[in-house]
Amino acid sequence: MERSFADYLGDWKRSCYCGEPRADSVGQPLILMGWTQRRRDHGGLIFVDLRDRSGLIQIVFNPETSQTAHEKAKQIRSEDVLAVRGVLMRRPPETINPNMATGEVELLVEEVRLISASEVPPFVIEDETEANENTRFKYRYLDMRRPQGLEPLRLRYRMTKKIRDYLDGKGFLEIETPLLTKSTPEGARDYLVPSRIYPGKFYALPQSPQLFKQILMVGGVDRYFQIARCFRDEDLRAERQPEFTQLDMEMSFIQREDIFEIIEGMINALFQQLKGIDLNRPFNIISWLDAMEGYGSDKPDMRFGLELKNFSIACKKTQFKVFSRALEQKGVVKGLSVSGADFSRKELDDLTTFVGNYGAKGLAWVKLAEKDWQSPIAKFFSAEERSAILSITQAKPGDFIFFVADEEKIANDALANLRLHLGEKLGLIRENKYAIVWVVDFPLFEYDPGEQRYQSVNHPFTAPLEEDLSLLATEPLKVRSKAYDLVLNGTEIGGGSIRIHQGALQKKIFELLGITPREAEAKFGFFLEALKFGAPPHGGIAFGIDRLAMILSGSRSIREVIAFPKSQRAVCLLTDAPSEVDPKQLRELRIKTT
Ligand code: AMO
Ligand code: AMP
Repeated sequence: MERSFADYLGDWKRSCYCGEPRADSVGQPLILMGWTQRRRDHGGLIFVDLRDRSGLIQIVFNPETSQTAHEKAKQIRSEDVLAVRGVLMRRPPETINPNMATGEVELLVEEVRLISASEVPPFVIEDETEANENTRFKYRYLDMRRPQGLEPLRLRYRMTKKIRDYLDGKGFLEIETPLLTKSTPEGARDYLVPSRIYPGKFYALPQSPQLFKQILMVGGVDRYFQIARCFRDEDLRAERQPEFTQLDMEMSFIQREDIFEIIEGMINALFQQLKGIDLNRPFNIISWLDAMEGYGSDKPDMRFGLELKNFSIACKKTQFKVFSRALEQKGVVKGLSVSGADFSRKELDDLTTFVGNYGAKGLAWVKLAEKDWQSPIAKFFSAEERSAILSITQAKPGDFIFFVADEEKIANDALANLRLHLGEKLGLIRENKYAIVWVVDFPLFEYDPGEQRYQSVNHPFTAPLEEDLSLLATEPLKVRSKAYDLVLNGTEIGGGSIRIHQGALQKKIFELLGITPREAEAKFGFFLEALKFGAPPHGGIAFGIDRLAMILSGSRSIREVIAFPKSQRAVCLLTDAPSEVDPKQLRELRIKTT
């Protein structure tokens, strides 16, 4: 049939959203507009579920009410846009749909206007869609039409609105900082924007507003925040996007505890208002060292136990070559014990393959049977070692103990991931449980063996702990910083620090990082200049808005809470950016591609 969809809205005004009418409005004339979820033709009657962002309503075409409308309704297909005028009716009792908010009523149509026809959509617009992610994001406008499709974006909006209200109440000013700027030092690759006016020169898109916010403190702003777009050209993962949003904050004349107080109030208000959950305050605090020791990670998921244990001392005199070799090479023997689970040989092999993905050369295990230890390497454990291991793990008969012997970094990484894997596999992570923790006292530097120099663990403007200042000259790797991260269910949602506010110390840090005075001048001259004119002590933090929204909305990836996200390959799935440009544009910029 030739479909004729050429009607206009004319003078019609929408009475309300599709999802709103209830039984107390029965008898009222209504004009509704929306998309066709479904059409069912029962010969005499035609039913259409009409949808908009508020939900669905059933509309009915009865030839006895309007022959013309009924005739027109025969053309309707999924996703067509309609406007209908009719009367709200109570549904006959046996047809009431308790699963629909509007399930007690239906609109008896007197007139329909066929506004806009839809081609067959590439996937069915329902909450349980089988479409893969890339298809959903290519057709994001269809994806959003799903009944729950807008939920993550709605939650994100409510979240930023509450953040603004909360910070406004605390005297913060929201101030915008430039997007076309100089390279900032967050450690990822920059996105560059060529300058047409100055051929060969480039702006960088900010990795964060870090230096601007510190300069705002020098300017006396005192309390700043911004919901700021940031850009980082780095390898992407489920919780990373090349362009993302930070809640960026900075405060003057404060200590770490003042910042914690404000942030805890804010995060708790978000949980109360968006989830109806009260978090325990003050939040727990764990040192970076304890986090690495007990969880193998600086973003510990504290929703469950399975803490890592260190067996290096217990195994000092081990007969097992694999362990002794690792210890000789300044490595560690670490592991964890598991109660209430049995593992088949196949499962144990799979776990060994699993830790192999993180560089571990193997996974040793023992099962504590009633009488003896069952393990391919049982014979290597002396009585003394066994009792030391038991007292470290508190393991009981029936439990398993796993071991990885390796360089500390590899052992931690492999076991941290094994811990998360087992936590999930054994069902130790309760849904709707939230565990939030501050990780503090990060090391100031780490050593980069490739470049053979120190690097900042956070960024070079992070202040060292005063009690460690004397170590700067002698053992820089032992210096702890005034940095802190906030970790929620194993995801780093925010990070910040108390900053350096004295030029002399800032220069010394640059020196240790191998940044020459000339380089420092070229890169951060404007900032060092500002520090000369009376910089207040200050500190701040930045939150990943996308990550927070992901967790609060229970989404699987941050892409769900971004309207038009990029793919894992950094492509904008909707527009296909990045794309080639006109040669004329390149000539103007004096850029040649190779
Ligand atoms: P940091 O680099 O830790 O600190 O970033 C702060 C928070 O931003 C989020 N985040 C990201 N989210 C999505 N995609 C990404 N690629 C991405 N990268 C970071 C994380 C992280 O905790 N200027 C400092 C803050 C400060 O010192 O005040 C900074 O940017 O949730
Ligand atoms: P092998 O001596 O290679 O036969 O290994 C004996 C057991 O030790 C196997 O279960 C291996 O998975 C395990 N294993 C090997 N290398 C390591 C290691 N670096 N850390 C822990 N266990 C290991």
